[in-house]
Amino acid sequence: MKLLLVGGGAREHALAWKLSGEQAVRELVCGPGNAGIAGLARCVPLDVADPEAILAVAEREQVDFTVVGPELPLANGVADVFAAAGRPLFGPRKAAARLESSKVYAKRFMARHGIPTARFRVCDTADAALAAVAGEAFGFPVVVKADGLAAGKGVTVAPDRATAEAAVRAAMVDGRFGAAGSSVVIEECLAGEEASFFVLCDGRSGLALPSAQDHKRAFDGDRGPNTGGMGAFAPSPLVSRALADRVMAEVVQPTLDGLRADGAEYRGVLYVGLMLTRDGPQVIEFNVRFGDPEAQVVLPMIETDLAPILFAAATGDLGTAAWRTAGDPHVGVVMASGGYPGKYETGHEIDGLAAAEAVPGVVVFHAGSRLQDGRILTSGGRVLTVVGRGGTFGEARERAYRAAACISFPDKHVRTDIGMKAIAGGG
Ligand code: AMP
Ligand code: GLY
Repeated sequence: MKLLLVGGGAREHALAWKLSGEQAVRELVCGPGNAGIAGLARCVPLDVADPEAILAVAEREQVDFTVVGPELPLANGVADVFAAAGRPLFGPRKAAARLESSKVYAKRFMARHGIPTARFRVCDTADAALAAVAGEAFGFPVVVKADGLAAGKGVTVAPDRATAEAAVRAAMVDGRFGAAGSSVVIEECLAGEEASFFVLCDGRSGLALPSAQDHKRAFDGDRGPNTGGMGAFAPSPLVSRALADRVMAEVVQPTLDGLRADGAEYRGVLYVGLMLTRDGPQVIEFNVRFGDPEAQVVLPMIETDLAPILFAAATGDLGTAAWRTAGDPHVGVVMASGGYPGKYETGHEIDGLAAAEAVPGVVVFHAGSRLQDGRILTSGGRVLTVVGRGGTFGEARERAYRAAACISFPDKHVRTDIGMKAIAGGG
């Protein structure tokens, strides 16, 4: 088949890397892609926020199947536009994408369907939210979440009342997230370890992929501001087979059944952000796409061809689809521009990519990079994800960091402790 991949981050590079060599994939087009993806697919300009523009590319290129990486096109209804045009696409419809695009919807959905999640209150005005904080219904720390998509910046884990109030004011008075902050969720802060769980869904049933763990904070030791993700590893030593079965039974199946009952059948990948608490797994968030940087470590673990499985999910019949893995640990280290997630410079030349890729068991995925006059320049906050695989987490980590050390650009920022948790956890 001829396939269109939508997006241009390291997650999409990992998807392109996995899909491009597969038997079923005759040709791969990517919009907009990036400098790394350009080595695997023909890249075309594309505004991913615009579902009609995505359909126009699919029609012009006569593609057989479209796979969507990021959430924005899904929240904007690209799956509905493709369904109306009779073109298969991997990713949920707009109504189901609200699981990610509206935290108010997601929390109410979970409450309605008995899916384990933190206790919460929805507030539609700043006064109501400030009163909820002052009432200390959930004690401190407390979590304040802007309702809509806020580029990963809409959540504050507030240690005290003043911080919680400031978060409410930023969202609801200062309008820091625009319309995305016109409602907030105030919720109980859960304690435990976090894991990311990915499930390919065909509307009725789901096929779980290897689990992963993300490192969201900017600095070593999980300190500093939240980012899109500074590194990840897979599989998560915290997610045993028994726990995965429990999450499928207690979270995923009720979610698929509930969405179907609500007339919003879910086809695509469901990302379940879990907090593994003393009382069992609880849902912190749903996303309607693969995680980034988790995809960069999860997809290389899968030895089976993925395109037929994504197509089966998208067309509503996973049947007996299954995947194989050798189970080798993977560690992915994000190389970011200095200053990220705040202000940073771009346009710096990236050196040493070939030397990094020559390290055994290593693959380098591009995010914020672009080609100019034969040189590869930085073009974003998260620039690369360097992934190492090994027989142990220690070996995977050593390879990823050895490769990352080969790569240079001015003011690069890399956490030094990605994957340490997996080693501490018995990897
Ligand atoms: P999100 O943007 O929804 O991924 O949330 C960002 C991060 O905030 C999560 O990865 C958690 O570390 C943290 N978080 C969100 N909700 C809670 C909660 N109820 N309890 C504890 N931490 C939370
Ligand atoms: N790694 C977190 C996310 O993709 O949202």
